[in-house]
Amino acid sequence: MARLQGKTAVITGGTTGIGFETAKQFAAEGARVIITGQNPERLQTAAQELGSQVIPVQADVRSLNDLKRLAERAESEFGQLDILFANAGIGFFAPLNAIDETFYDDQFDVNVKGVFFTVQILAELLSEGASVILNASAVNEKGAAMGSIYFATKAAVRSFARSLAAELGPRKIRVNAVSPGFVPTNFQSKMGLTQDALDGFATYVKQAAPLGRFGQPEEIATAVVFLASDESSYITATDLVVDGGYMNV
Ligand SMILES: NC(=O)c1ccc[n+]([C@@H]2O[C@H](COP(=O)([O-])OP(=O)(O)OC[C@H]3O[C@@H](n4cnc5c(N)ncnc54)[C@H](OP(=O)(O)O)[C@@H]3O)[C@@H](O)[C@H]2O)c1
Repeated sequence: MARLQGKTAVITGGTTGIGFETAKQFAAEGARVIITGQNPERLQTAAQELGSQVIPVQADVRSLNDLKRLAERAESEFGQLDILFANAGIGFFAPLNAIDETFYDDQFDVNVKGVFFTVQILAELLSEGASVILNASAVNEKGAAMGSIYFATKAAVRSFARSLAAELGPRKIRVNAVSPGFVPTNFQSKMGLTQDALDGFATYVKQAAPLGRFGQPEEIATAVVFLASDESSYITATDLVVDGGYMNV
C-alpha cells in the first residue's frame, strides 16, 4: 500500500524546488495535498504539472490573514490535516555592514514568523497522530561570514521543532525538522550572491561533504515522506539532516 494513502497534507512553498518535489512524492504515495506559494504564475505552473491530487492556494506565509484563509480552505477540502510541511523559505547573504532592517526583517518574517504562525494557525486542524515537518537547514548549527541572518533564522526553525514537539506531543502530533545541505533549486539564484561567490560556496560545500556532491530535491523529499509517514511514528523533536555528511565531519 502507498505510504501516505488517505492522508491529507499542506506544503507551504510547494511551487518549486524541495516543496514541489515533496508534493509530487506525497501525491504518488496516496496523499491529497494543498501547496501554497505567493507568486501566482509559479503556483499555477506547479499545479498544472502536479495534477488533480494537488490543490494550489495562493498564500503569503508572512500574512496571518493568508494563513487563516489557508486553514479555512484546508478545512473545507479535507476536514482535518495529517501532514504539515512548513517549507517556504528564503535566504540572502551579505556582510555585517551591508545588512539593513529590511534585509533582516524579510528573512525573519518568512523563515521564522512564517513557520511559527503556519503551525499555530493550522494546528487546530491537525489530527491525532499528525506529522509536522519544518524545513530548517544543515547550517542551523553553523556560522559563516555573510550568513548571520539566514543561519540564525534556521537555528530558530530547528528550535521550534523542539518546543512545538513538546507542546503538541499530548495530542500525539510529532514535530520534526528536516535539514537539507546544498540543493540546487531557485533558492541559490535568489540569494543575492555574485556568480563567482556562488560558485566558490558551491565548490566548498561539495568538497566538505563526504559524499562529494550536492543533494537533489528528490532526496530531501524522500526524507520528508519518511517523517510524514507512520514509519517514523516514534520520532519527534529531532532534526533529520540530509546533507551528504557536510555537517557532521
Ligand atoms: N536549496 C537549498 O540548498 C536549501 C538548503 C537548506 C534548506 N533549504 C530550505 O528549503 C526550503 C525550500 O527552498 P528551495 O531550495 O526549495 O527553494 P525555492 O525553490 O526557492 O522554493 C522556495 C519556496 O518557498 C516559497 N516562498 C518564498 N517566500 C514565500 C512567502 N512569503 N510565502 C509563501 N511562500 C513563499 C516559494 O514560493 P514562490 O514561488 O511563490 O515565491 C517557493 O515555493 C527553504 O525553507 C530553504 O531555506 C534549502
